[in-house]
Amino acid sequence: MSTRHSRLYRWLDERLALSALSDFLLNEPMPGGPSFWYVFGSSLFFILLMQALTGVMMLFYYAPTMDHAWESIRYMMEEVPFGSFIRGLHHWGASAMIIMAILHITQVFVWGAYKRPRELTWLAGLTAFGTVLGFAWTGYLLPWDQLSYWGTIVGTEIIGTVPLVGEPLATFLKGGGAIGAQTLSRFYAIHIWLLPAIIFTVIGLHLYLFRKQGVAGPFSGTVQELERNKGFFFPRQFFFDVIAAMLIFLILVYLAMFHPPELRSPANPSLAPAHVAPEWYFLFLYQLLKYFPKEWIVVGTTIIPGIMALALVGLPFYDRNPERHPLKRLRALSIFFLVLCAMAVLTYLAILSAPETLTPDPELALKGKQIYQESGCTSCHQIHGQGGSVGPDLSYEALAGRSPDWIRQHFRHPDQVVEGSIMPSAAELGLDEDDIEALTHFMFSLK
Ligand code: HEC
Repeated sequence: MSTRHSRLYRWLDERLALSALSDFLLNEPMPGGPSFWYVFGSSLFFILLMQALTGVMMLFYYAPTMDHAWESIRYMMEEVPFGSFIRGLHHWGASAMIIMAILHITQVFVWGAYKRPRELTWLAGLTAFGTVLGFAWTGYLLPWDQLSYWGTIVGTEIIGTVPLVGEPLATFLKGGGAIGAQTLSRFYAIHIWLLPAIIFTVIGLHLYLFRKQGVAGPFSGTVQELERNKGFFFPRQFFFDVIAAMLIFLILVYLAMFHPPELRSPANPSLAPAHVAPEWYFLFLYQLLKYFPKEWIVVGTTIIPGIMALALVGLPFYDRNPERHPLKRLRALSIFFLVLCAMAVLTYLAILSAPETLTPDPELALKGKQIYQESGCTSCHQIHGQGGSVGPDLSYEALAGRSPDWIRQHFRHPDQVVEGSIMPSAAELGLDEDDIEALTHFMFSLK
């Protein structure tokens, strides 16, 4: 073997034990052989590294202060080459991480791979999952836009309802009574330093335990069969893992290029948006809370999430049946999938209840802007400081929570929609349906 290697390799090997290291990394035995089912863990590791890299790249531009955070992101999105792309990768990477983590947990659950002697591997993995949620939540505030500002107010209020620890924890996170400069500094410190330190530590532990206990392997088959089909990590499993990582990366590249995350209007503490909603992965909780009146809110914020967390954490300790075959664990499986379904249904209901909106067509909005200027709207309405003050300020009309139909109908007959309205109707202003449509698109571009 050593004769095939260059002198440089032999020199390094003598000092760094490279061959022993690559033997250890690549020749991991896999009972039952490599499988495409095992790609979730390595995909997560790949996304984690991608998040770290894109995160550091954004740190080159991001300024963690109230005055400059939003502007620094705007600069990155609009002026820095590939800035929008890198932010897109980081944004979609967060969602990919949560999806892959749910798949990984589901697979480990169905395979019964959390069972003795892998309890600690399971716990380290769950800690990493909790850390990922922490990353997602703290990262949401950093652009300092309207939704992240108001969403974080709701989030810290939810934490505040947890008995005993909630209030002090919320105050600690906010760095005082209100969301402000201290909150941004703290979320930044947590997102950039604390959580990365935690996640790389627990993932290190997770991988160490994983190697120590070995691959759990398929849930069926005798010891002899598994031994007969035994394979090694390299090259087949490595190949599967690379294929999965590449697939995920291509999807993320597509999303980052064609659906980059938008930068909403900057945080405005004096203008509450009509509708505040978290990212999709927290929607189920947000929806759940709608069903509890104020005096019962602890059930939604503490008891139900607490039971779910405890059920997961305690799983390998109360489920001591060594049987791993899913068909012989139907009760456990039904509970697991019922909870997943309930979460999916809640998420779906939350999406349904989001107010209707309209994505403004740039051309129509521009036409609407002209009509706006020619029809004398300015004499009564202000947009960013320009115009009269007879009617309401329209600077953020898209965030006012009006549905497109409300806006259209209001243009047609203001007094039928708002009692006693003195605003002239479309007919009085000489506007036809096309003009109304253009104006509506213009209204939905105001944010
Ligand atoms: C004579 C003054 C006047 C003119 C001209 C006028 N508006 Fe208004 N507008 C009002 C008043 C007063 C209200 C508040 C009562 C209401 O909602 O109807 C209002 C409300 C609105 C609203 C609803 C805001 C909300 O979400 O509550 C929109 C949108 C709007 N105007 C757009 C326009 C546009 C576009 C034009 C030009 C085509 C226009 N207005 C012309 C006085 C005016």
